[in-house]
Amino acid sequence: MKRHFRVWRGDESGGEIQDFDVEVNDGEVVLDIIHRLQATQTPDLACRWNCKAGKCGSCSMEINGKPRLGCMTRMSTFEENETVTITPLRTFPVIRDLVTDVSFNYEKARETPAFAPPPGVAPGDYRMQQVDVDRSQEFRKCIECFLCQNTCHVVRDHEENKKAFSGPRYFIRAAELDMHPLDDRTDRKEYAQASQGLGYCNITKCCTEVCPEHIKITDNAIIPMKERVVDRRYDPLVWLGRKIFRRDQLQNGSATNMAPSSSEGVTGVAAGLSGAGTRPPQAPAVGADGKLEVAELLSPHAGGPSPFGNDQEFPLPNITYNHPEQDKS
Ligand code: SF4
Ligand code: SF4
Ligand code: FES
Repeated sequence: MKRHFRVWRGDESGGEIQDFDVEVNDGEVVLDIIHRLQATQTPDLACRWNCKAGKCGSCSMEINGKPRLGCMTRMSTFEENETVTITPLRTFPVIRDLVTDVSFNYEKARETPAFAPPPGVAPGDYRMQQVDVDRSQEFRKCIECFLCQNTCHVVRDHEENKKAFSGPRYFIRAAELDMHPLDDRTDRKEYAQASQGLGYCNITKCCTEVCPEHIKITDNAIIPMKERVVDRRYDPLVWLGRKIFRRDQLQNGSATNMAPSSSEGVTGVAAGLSGAGTRPPQAPAVGADGKLEVAELLSPHAGGPSPFGNDQEFPLPNITYNHPEQDKS
């Protein structure tokens, strides 16, 4: 059965959306359609891919305005008569067609301080408890698809922020090293705040929503680092609490009715444990439906029109990111 596709073609000097009708078979993914297009209609259509198994992170693209892996986006997730529009990642410069220059991310990787081994311990003699391995394992699942980097509004429409902002992929690297028991640097979160632009992040969770590895970037890396890096002296809620409550009321937690955070990695008072040195949890604003504002659409930094066509505004109206397998289920 033939289906209608719209694909952006062009290079750094400009381009346009082109229309194609392509055969689609049961069980196919968007990358199959791109391959069929290359085989039958557009042999020069440029697209990066390697594994076709969701593991190499090469085939990142925007499909109907949502950042996704082409090889993991099943055609069955679309309506039968739905037009599928495929555009390159918007945050990075286009090289050609669906291929973008993602070297921004490699520069940020280079700027991220490497693992600092403990002095006096030779490589091969490092020993870790399994529980410590398990904690950081989530972040090691990253396939460097850069969908999170692409979707983050801090750089998506703000080229000027790229210098100061490393992005969510490198926040999880900082968090991973921060919880590494053998890492000799003790300033990972302070460094993230001062030099990686952690303060630019306003925890919209868009990065978490698009991560194909389901890494809880915001809950398990960004929020715990933010919670620990901010001195409670600068927290206006704590300042107000000091004015209203006695110290012992603040210390035993009776001054707050907030529910403990259930996020992994959150410790101290935020996790419902006693400990006067930790700031109390601050619940992020929720929308009318009681859910966190997860879409850029709802964030104070809404995206601008897409350079790949006026019908490619991001995000598309009424769309909230969902992981591909949850779509239309
Ligand atoms: S939570 Fe939002 S602002 Fe923060 S890194 Fe992720 S996408 Fe960017
Ligand atoms: S954290 Fe997730 S979305 Fe970001 S680069 Fe890694 S796998 Fe991709
Ligand atoms: S081709 Fe490797 S992740 Fe899609």
